[in-house]
Amino acid sequence: MEEKIIDENRQGEFLMIDGESNLKGRKLLLESYGCQMNFSDSEIVASILSEAGFSTTRDPEEADLILLNTCAIRDNAEQRVRGRLDYFRSIKKRKPEMVVGVLGCMAERLREKLLEEEKLVDLVVGPDAYRDLPNLIDQVDTGQKAVNVLLSREETYAEITPVRLNSNGITAFISIMRGCDNMCSFCVVPFTRGRERSRDPQTIVQEAKSLFDQGYREVTLLGQNVDSYKWNITNKGEILDPSKPTTNFAQLMEMVAKIHPDLRIRFSTSHPKDMTDDVLHVMAAYDNICKYIHLPVQSGSSEVLKRMNRGYSREWYLQRIEAIKRIMPDAAISTDIITGFCGETEEQHLETLSLMKEVEYDLAYMFKYSERPKTLAERKYEDDIPEEVKGRRLKEVIDVQMECSAKRTKTYVGQVHRVLVEGTSKKSDQHYQGRTTQNVVAIFPKGDAKPGDYVDVLVNSCTAVTLLGELVAVYPRIVSTEN
Ligand code: SAH
Ligand code: SF4
Ligand code: F3S
Repeated sequence: MEEKIIDENRQGEFLMIDGESNLKGRKLLLESYGCQMNFSDSEIVASILSEAGFSTTRDPEEADLILLNTCAIRDNAEQRVRGRLDYFRSIKKRKPEMVVGVLGCMAERLREKLLEEEKLVDLVVGPDAYRDLPNLIDQVDTGQKAVNVLLSREETYAEITPVRLNSNGITAFISIMRGCDNMCSFCVVPFTRGRERSRDPQTIVQEAKSLFDQGYREVTLLGQNVDSYKWNITNKGEILDPSKPTTNFAQLMEMVAKIHPDLRIRFSTSHPKDMTDDVLHVMAAYDNICKYIHLPVQSGSSEVLKRMNRGYSREWYLQRIEAIKRIMPDAAISTDIITGFCGETEEQHLETLSLMKEVEYDLAYMFKYSERPKTLAERKYEDDIPEEVKGRRLKEVIDVQMECSAKRTKTYVGQVHRVLVEGTSKKSDQHYQGRTTQNVVAIFPKGDAKPGDYVDVLVNSCTAVTLLGELVAVYPRIVSTEN
């Protein structure tokens, strides 16, 4: 009761100061780190807080509330956030009333400890507790610190319409599921994001449809393991409501692809142990499903994969790659690699290099192993590869990949590619940039095209990963004015 009285007093103060009550009229600065899912979550947070009366700003000096949506995947991801908090500390010295909150995976991992370690932090909120943000901010307004890091088995924010942040108005993310049940031994995600749960397919299709009607032309369906998306059916295969259809990932993708042939579909991330041929056949059947698969391998050694608890062997993985190449010969494939995982021998590292040369990935995201607290690997194995060995192996992996990427990019020169125009090139205001179905960036003179149009680009030359070309045809975007 006492809290309530203090709260009302504070509301009065705000009324006097800026003519608005409670949260209304306050300015939010929201910064995001980590994976696409985190960026997508920030759009949910922005939606919840704009309902509560906040408007956004990019200027920390102007912000009443600073929220950092954080990543905990590797130690250096956390160090970046700590560096940013140091910077905000200097602003808060001048503006003590400014509220600073940490959201996302680092908030979930460190919980109350964050309040002890980072004295300027007032608010700690985990990925499943964003609906509670307005209440938690009220609590901070009463002079208390506020924490909610409860993980949920149901929360998917299904009916919340995200506020598109930093949007180009052409491409958007749609979260189709949350959490992860896989327990790869190196990975902190199951601890920070909780159990896997899928979102109602009707709400996903609705969101994609509404984006298309607003002029968007590409959606990326997001989940830590999209191949395990399921609706109305349990992990054991029991149907929950027999009167309704069940939906798996292949079916969901088809539902979204049918919205309109001009709406491109991408997705991330596939898991090699769960990726079915059904998904590949649906991809092949629809022109608007982009011919690009991100299929993280992590290591080329079956022994290492076993210690990583990935659930597949080198042979199984290569058989999945063979299926992609057979069903979609022109598909681009990318991957994630970790070097220097616990106990990785020189031979096992060489197996990773040989797998990369065999697959010839178009693109790879490559990391040194970073031990994460509480994970299976931290409890079971020694982080025994010296830092300089991890670094040297990473360099070797990067060198192989640079060669593969350059080789693949060169094969596109001389060809005509359909590109979705995303906006002006970062390097030249005379040029547009967009991506091919294979997710390769193409740069070309603007001509008569506009963002949101599809264009055909004749590729004249390339850098290591970018295509340079000229316009040969423009297919203007027609935005429905009925809605
Ligand atoms: N769900 C996705 C990956 C999410 S994390 C999947 O299963 O593939 C993105 C990438 O970060 C991982 O694929 C892995 O390569 C890397 N990663 C995760 N934990 C790591 C760690 N402890 N050290 C180094 N890299 C890590
Ligand atoms: Fe982490 Fe593995 Fe889940 Fe990916 S599938 S999020 S690597 S536990
Ligand atoms: Fe990072 Fe969390 Fe994504 S740990 S990679 S932000 S799920």
